[in-house]
Amino acid sequence: MIEYKINDSVIPDELDCFFQNWKSPPSLKIKGKLLEGSDLIITAKENGRLVGFITTISDGAMHAFITLVEVLEAYQGKGIGKNLMKLAISHFKGYYDIVLITDKDKGAFYKKFGFNEIYGMHIRDFTYGKGNN
Ligand SMILES: CC(C)(COP(=O)(O)OP(=O)(O)OC[C@H]1O[C@@H](n2cnc3c(N)ncnc32)[C@H](O)[C@@H]1OP(=O)(O)O)[C@@H](O)C(=O)NCCC(=O)NCCS
Repeated sequence: MIEYKINDSVIPDELDCFFQNWKSPPSLKIKGKLLEGSDLIITAKENGRLVGFITTISDGAMHAFITLVEVLEAYQGKGIGKNLMKLAISHFKGYYDIVLITDKDKGAFYKKFGFNEIYGMHIRDFTYGKGNN
């Protein structure tokens, strides 16, 4: 059985099996910082083992940014991402904006929860993970 927890805490080592297909996966140090810096973490655990999670940052009133949505490969396609997203959206109900950045091929997943494509801008560091973190 998968157990979901809102406002959970996660230690960096628990993220060991995640980010498998990333070109520049975050280092253990960065994992620690991003977990510490997140305002809200929602977890999915099976027998205490982390199998999926969402991290978010927010101003606590108007804006929420879903920063990471990750489900272990072996657990994908079982509704875990959907349940995590539903919990995050309901947590931020009433906010003006809930935003996230994703790859185009994941757009259909987020559209299922009411997300729309918008015009946006960002600065991305393409040297990220190349020895600078
Ligand atoms: C994207 C991701 C979070 C989806 O989680 P998941 O647990 O596998 O998804 P679910 O099983 O909850 O799927 C829910 C629904 O979304 C659909 N779906 C899942 N992944 C999808 C995708 N990449 N594109 C379109 N639809 C998708 C499922 O078919 C399902 O549809 P249904 O409700 O009509 O049956 C997961 O695949 C993942 O962690 N991928 C690697 C990391 C990643 O890419 N994160 C997002 C970066 S922004």
